[in-house]
Amino acid sequence: MIVTIDGTAGSGKSTAARKLAARLGIAYLDTGAMYRVVTLIALEDGINLSDETRLVAAAGEDFHLDLGPTHIRVTLRERDVTEELRSMRINDHTRFIAASPGVRRILIERQRDIGRRLGSLVTEGRDQGSVVFPDADAKFYMDAAVEKRAERRMHELLAEGEEVAYDDVLANLRERDRTDASRPVAPLVVPRGAIMIDTSTLSIQQVLEFLLEQLVRLGLDVTPHSGIGEHVF
Ligand code: DC
Repeated sequence: MIVTIDGTAGSGKSTAARKLAARLGIAYLDTGAMYRVVTLIALEDGINLSDETRLVAAAGEDFHLDLGPTHIRVTLRERDVTEELRSMRINDHTRFIAASPGVRRILIERQRDIGRRLGSLVTEGRDQGSVVFPDADAKFYMDAAVEKRAERRMHELLAEGEEVAYDDVLANLRERDRTDASRPVAPLVVPRGAIMIDTSTLSIQQVLEFLLEQLVRLGLDVTPHSGIGEHVF
């Protein structure tokens, strides 16, 4: 079973996808982390963010994704970079990488390959239901008021020890909304057939219950799988 969750930055996609995958006992794929790791490579190697050839080479680099039902860990150059990928520095630059057609081609292929090999997956991003898995068993589109999303993102960053001001996080999200929706390559769209969910006033538990209800309504099996283990790609 392939379940896609797309939507705006900070709408709660990652938490929802993680919780749903854990509940179903299947793997969780955070595709934003893939764009983020390419960003980290580009910044580390001093690549000009509009140098398509070098960005494509960076996207082809051998980073590892360790997928489980409750986590994704990313290893780059023998270093665990999972936390580093969530920093504001990476936040601020990833949109340039996400706008590269060559990088997208490589990452999309990698995402489809993971889907093929695992068979069951909850995958989360901006184009999972529209481009990567158009025939997914269930597609969701998540959104929330921008102020609410900024609040959540700020608490996340503070919890990770990063000093941030609410206004900066809000401005960053507004800018990302604008670029995600208006970029010429793979703009954020509501996938055809997606079920919409506004998480502004919902708790994580309520979101999870809504997702499960919808899977049941679609006739999908929500009995927890066991022994999914970990998968390294
Ligand atoms: O979901 P996130 O905040 O980790 O995403 C980071 C960036 O990558 C953001 O600019 C949107 C982009 N992205 C994308 O273009 N396509 C995806 N499937 C996932 C993320």
